[in-house]
Amino acid sequence: AKARHFKWEISNMFWSPDCEEKVVIGINGQFPGPTIRARAGDTIHVELKNALHTEGVVIHWHGIRQIGTPWADGTAAISQCAINPEETFTYRFVVDKVLTTTEVLITNCLNVRGKRSTETEEFCSWLQPGTYFYHGHYGMQRAAGLYGSLIVDVTQGEEEPFKYDGELNLLLSDWYHESIHTQMVALSSKPFRWIGEPQSLLINGRGQFNCSMAAAHTPGATQCAAVNRQCAPVVLPVQPNKTYRLRVASTTSLASLNLAIGNHKLTVVEADGNYVDPFVVDDIDIYSGDSYSVLLTTDQDPSSNYWVSVGVRGRQPKTAPALAVLNYRPNGASKLPALAPPATPAWDDYEHSKAFTYRIRAHAGTPPPPATADRRIELLNTQNRMDGHIKWSINNVSMVLPATPYLGSLKLGLKSTLTAARPAEMFSRGYDVTLPPANPNTTVGDNVYVLAHNTTVDVVLQNANALAHNTSEVHPWHLHGHDFWVLGYGDGAYRGDAADEARLNLRDPPLRNTAVIFPYGWTALRFVADNPGVWAFHCHIEPHLHMGMGVVFAEAVDLVGKVPKQAVSCGATASALMNGDHL
Ligand code: C2O
Ligand code: CU
Repeated sequence: AKARHFKWEISNMFWSPDCEEKVVIGINGQFPGPTIRARAGDTIHVELKNALHTEGVVIHWHGIRQIGTPWADGTAAISQCAINPEETFTYRFVVDKVLTTTEVLITNCLNVRGKRSTETEEFCSWLQPGTYFYHGHYGMQRAAGLYGSLIVDVTQGEEEPFKYDGELNLLLSDWYHESIHTQMVALSSKPFRWIGEPQSLLINGRGQFNCSMAAAHTPGATQCAAVNRQCAPVVLPVQPNKTYRLRVASTTSLASLNLAIGNHKLTVVEADGNYVDPFVVDDIDIYSGDSYSVLLTTDQDPSSNYWVSVGVRGRQPKTAPALAVLNYRPNGASKLPALAPPATPAWDDYEHSKAFTYRIRAHAGTPPPPATADRRIELLNTQNRMDGHIKWSINNVSMVLPATPYLGSLKLGLKSTLTAARPAEMFSRGYDVTLPPANPNTTVGDNVYVLAHNTTVDVVLQNANALAHNTSEVHPWHLHGHDFWVLGYGDGAYRGDAADEARLNLRDPPLRNTAVIFPYGWTALRFVADNPGVWAFHCHIEPHLHMGMGVVFAEAVDLVGKVPKQAVSCGATASALMNGDHL
């Protein structure tokens, strides 16, 4: 394994992601930020200088478990203090090592991983290559463009369970013309102002606002003028009759997406860094926080190029699809495809989305989950009012983050870290998920769930009607520090009865770090609390998180190793350290 060093400077800069010039947060003068590429087991060092001048910054490595380095998870107010302007912080962590100390998982691990793992009596670990990304995790900085790809290849000499001739990478996002500062003020003002739909969808940071590359196929659309470099369409060069691995990740602020490629089938082989049982589809759904690898065979008429089309799902689309060109060589890249861009499915065709999501199963060799759980936490997602504001709440508490990061304050055992009342683990069985909340009022709180080391935890995410009648949105929930098994999904209220139990898959549930809850439905997850640290668990839609849609898992904090002072030298932790306390 190698050490890989990066030196980054983060700053605001002018950029034209969709051909309109705005301010983005860039890294080393680039947008999106530079791609990190490493082999499983490597140690990444990112020496990060904050050149934003007037605001803090942190970077979260989405999908990387941070085993033994919870202070490098990059969540402001949870795992570290935001890095002050002009200061430098070094993130140092291994990609991506999974380690378990739980007996049942060791057995599973030894059974399925055989010689590939490093085993001792007490633990079992393995390396996990995959498609990941990184992004800002302070305020709404992700939506300001602070993100990039993180790709972990297999270790030298190891093989993946599929073959391909070449690789292409697509990082999907959406883009607003309003600054995130305006957006944050709107979301927290009285009366509430919704930020609306994004102006553009971006592929690798490029989109086209108010014009279409495929105008000839789109009634009423105007052809984009010769585009400048920053918003030029992405071209994916391929040779005929080869197989390509297309890595696709989404870091959208709001939009749920669907990706299709004219005349080509896609074979799904990886989800969130885990191999899946391969299956063939015409298009894939991809929610914010998801990543996939799909195989694509270039077996179509080689005299033509083809459109790659990315459209909006789950919300009435007011944003035009993003397009890229699958460029069959030796055709010129600017040769317009003969066929119209593939139409992505209707935005509200949830049956299509469910069919795709339910087909995702673990690849043979994935450790199965423990057969039973020690604890079940049911999290009801509702939209509420609070003192004239609109919030998202979990079991009627909307998350607010503290001034002192939990990792430091809990490790030092500082009193007053947590509010006295522990958050609820269940919602009322009588709650009617099909109606707006009967009592729309909510309170704010820290929403910290304390998990005992090596316990198996089930989480049931329950969706419900929002404040307006006949509205329930999709929410992709992302867990830091872990992958979870997605045990199952259901429509309506979860009752925990035999019928619900029958919907759970304990045989080959996929391991993931992000899972969606469909409108009015529930999703059941299982994970083992085997990674001491403090981990965010939240809806990956940026405005929803900003409006309180999240919880925090504090896991065996007493077992966390020595926390670097620099990570937590702010707020009450800074004062305690000055008074001689030790981390
Ligand atoms: Cu990619 Cu807490 O998020
Ligand atoms: Cu949400």
